[in-house]
Amino acid sequence: MTPPERRTRGRTSRSRLRALDAYLCQCERPLLERQDGPWREAAFLDVGFGEHPWTTLESAEAFRELNPSLPVIGVEADAGRAAAAASHEDALTRFRHGGFGWAVAAGQPARLVRAMNILRQYRPEDVEAAHAELGQALLPGGLLVEGSTDARGGITVAHLLRRGPEGLAREVLLFHTDFHQGFAPLLFRDWLPRDLRRRVLPEEPIHAFFAAWTAAWTQAREHGAWEPRIAFREGALRLAASCPGVSTEEWLLERGYLRWQPPGGVPRPTPLLI
Ligand SMILES: C[S@@+](CC[C@H](N)C(=O)[O-])C[C@H]1O[C@@H](n2cnc3c(N)ncnc32)[C@H](O)[C@@H]1O
Repeated sequence: MTPPERRTRGRTSRSRLRALDAYLCQCERPLLERQDGPWREAAFLDVGFGEHPWTTLESAEAFRELNPSLPVIGVEADAGRAAAAASHEDALTRFRHGGFGWAVAAGQPARLVRAMNILRQYRPEDVEAAHAELGQALLPGGLLVEGSTDARGGITVAHLLRRGPEGLAREVLLFHTDFHQGFAPLLFRDWLPRDLRRRVLPEEPIHAFFAAWTAAWTQAREHGAWEPRIAFREGALRLAASCPGVSTEEWLLERGYLRWQPPGGVPRPTPLLI
């Protein structure tokens, strides 16, 4: 898929994707550590790293705590940004000019592909094809992370799509906040991944999910859970009792993560009738 024709700003910031790094180190450790067979060469690919490669380098540092020989490749559609990042290259870290299909064209297998804050510039109807292209170089069991954050990375929502025998499965929708804006479930609405953004509308599955989450959070507050972190945690526990696939893992809830892994996969929005 070709990137949008106009040159995009490439805005990024240090620490913006730290919450995702922490989640992946905690919950995807085997994926980051694997060394058997083709996994030895399988890279972490950061697609669309932006005007500075800060987030790529931060993730490289975090993931190499688990896997010191992890190959890391930043890929950018903007040739000038890719060239400027080259000064940060080392034996295991590279920056390349290219698009979503770069890894397949280069014969580079991947264990993890990340495309954060990229698809906001694309049309919602192009998301499915973008996911397929981004996920092509993943080894079986590999993970595609695609979603959005606010400018400083205090609010994140990401799809986690797993490469399986049938292609990419929409495994998880992951929410995270550092509570800098307090908390209410609808805080996440404007940061939903591109296909779900603007689809929190009656009859849509994502609307039903937010309605259930808001009801659970409201009940938690009515029972005295006023402080944002406590209301988040108590609301998530109530939601988990009625909504299949909501994780109650303490590590997640204590740190502001809500992981929704519905048994049939994260629902797609209803196709728009044009
Ligand atoms: C807003 S920046 C995101 C930077 C970083 N990922 C972050 O989350 O902070 C988006 C970047 O994606 C790049 N981009 C857009 N479409 C792309 C594509 N198809 N392939 C590679 N890079 C792309 C743009 O050139 C831009 O630099």
